[in-house]
Amino acid sequence: MSIRRLPPELINRIAAGEVVERPASALKELVENSLDAGAAQVAVRLHAGGLELVEVADDGSGMPPEEMRLALERHATSKLTEDAIDRVTSFGFRGEALPSIASVSRLMLESRVRGTDGWRIAIDHGEPAGEGPAALPPGTRIRVEGLFDKVPARRKFLRSPRAEYAACLDAVKRLAMARSDVGFTFDHDGRRILTLQPVDPPTRVAELLSHELDRHGVGIDCTREGLRLTGVISLPTFNRGVADQQYLFVNSRPVKDRLLVGALRAAYRDLIARDRHPIAALFLDVPLDEVDVNVHPAKTEVRFRDPAAVRGLIVGGLRHALDEQGQRSAAREQAAAPVMWTTSESYERDVEQERPFAAVREAQTSFTPVGFMPAARAQPAVEPVPSYPLGVARGQVAATYIIAEAEDGLVIVDQHAAHERLVLEGMRAAREGGEVARQALLIPTVVELDEPDCDRLEAAATELAEMGLEVERFGPASILVRAVPAALGTTDVTRLVADLAAEIAELGGPLSLRDKLDHVAATIACHGSVRAGRVLSVAEMNALLREMEVTPRSGQCNHGRPTWVKLGHGEIEKLFGRK
Ligand SMILES: Nc1ncnc2c1ncn2[C@@H]1O[C@H](COP(=O)(O)OP(=O)(O)OP(=O)(O)O)[C@@H](O)[C@H]1O
Ligand SMILES: [Mg+2]
Repeated sequence: MSIRRLPPELINRIAAGEVVERPASALKELVENSLDAGAAQVAVRLHAGGLELVEVADDGSGMPPEEMRLALERHATSKLTEDAIDRVTSFGFRGEALPSIASVSRLMLESRVRGTDGWRIAIDHGEPAGEGPAALPPGTRIRVEGLFDKVPARRKFLRSPRAEYAACLDAVKRLAMARSDVGFTFDHDGRRILTLQPVDPPTRVAELLSHELDRHGVGIDCTREGLRLTGVISLPTFNRGVADQQYLFVNSRPVKDRLLVGALRAAYRDLIARDRHPIAALFLDVPLDEVDVNVHPAKTEVRFRDPAAVRGLIVGGLRHALDEQGQRSAAREQAAAPVMWTTSESYERDVEQERPFAAVREAQTSFTPVGFMPAARAQPAVEPVPSYPLGVARGQVAATYIIAEAEDGLVIVDQHAAHERLVLEGMRAAREGGEVARQALLIPTVVELDEPDCDRLEAAATELAEMGLEVERFGPASILVRAVPAALGTTDVTRLVADLAAEIAELGGPLSLRDKLDHVAATIACHGSVRAGRVLSVAEMNALLREMEVTPRSGQCNHGRPTWVKLGHGEIEKLFGRK
């Protein structure tokens, strides 16, 4: 590979912009160069989050001295031939990264081609600062010191060493996931943070994502029209408050593409609360002429020739995989740990720091021991327990939780969460089967709303009717409701319609009709469900349990919380020190 200066016509076709914004972006560029140079091993060293030092050493091809000089010039690259900008397979292609970094730091480039002697070139803020022989193993080593020290405008935007370190670690993780065949080490302030041997992709992903995904993950492998999607995603109940563990790759390039992130969200729609985020590592492989990588200065966004096909593959593929998981609930397995039954606040904090996942936190919701009496009459445990997976109801606690006895343990069900799920799945099944049972209101209800809200509901009237909700425009700022889905029973029609209008407004973006319907159905289901606080008879409780057993996706509510947890006999014995 030899480096050449790009002709001006080609330079003008390259997505221009700031390449280095912070240590992590410099680090990303350097590691990408090592991978492009065929390295089998990449060693990263940082000081103070990269603010003092970013060093990357590789055992790749190396460069002879004259190429090293060229590499530091703008728009000089070995990676792009005349017309190949539409078919880029390397990480780099612009010949921008090294000169950009060298212009805002003190940079030392050392390189050695196997069988020759090493050479080094120093650059101080873009100016040559000496060169000469260097002793190093075959490969390349680049040290970047004092990044932005002389650029106050930039320096100002840098965060603490801790935050910069986190961003650097994230950048390395993404590239390490993209190239599991390469070994990596990562040191920060003299401490070894990562040692990664070359392995297959699933193993590398497992090493870098939460280990909990072993139990709470779902494998993905689907193909459609020449596009292939592989990877792992978390069960809806195993989610996070921030979207920081979503790793997306297009043809092995880590991206933060909006289309892909949106598709991931859509796949979890109505399985997860809007402010919660799944964990995912997804690898999309598409033919080179289907995707353009030259749209973003940091090369983290791409443009697809057929965005709808990509979105369809992701939403459809993930949805299918999640549906197959049916009842599996993260809480069920986590119930194995007795900590879940602790109500002490300090413990809750510890657990949160260690394992910042919703399922753990939600399942810990403390019972209020004051001021309530067991509501439903307890069912004495005399007759043998029939073998229902969710057991037979024994009673209700706090008018919110159903306690049931199963052959293999004690089951606790959140009645509202569970029922909400059943209503939604019922509506969905009815919709797919054609007709949703509706119940005409004896006296149609008039609901007053803003004019735009009325417009939205009016525009969605046909779809709403499909779900059993009949609405009609009734003057500029009111809507007439004639019928509601039968599954809703008695419900506050005014609030339902107002919520739906808000829902539709929020979903206004580029969502498919199907996605919207699902979301609207979830809102309706929430309104129609048994509230927490309602006293249930034993027969009602058992009916709910039996229905849960035969309903798909009943392990979590529409917001991604578990609907039930089971405490096995073994765990109960452990709690009482019998084991
Ligand atoms: N670690 C390395 N080992 C061998 N050659 C390297 C290494 N780093 C850079 N080079 C050479 O230097 C050239 C310039 O690198 P630079 O990162 O500036 O541009 P690029 O990788 O071609 O494109 P981009 O700006 O998109 O990253 C590369 O094309 C490559 O030939
Ligand atoms: Mg590069």
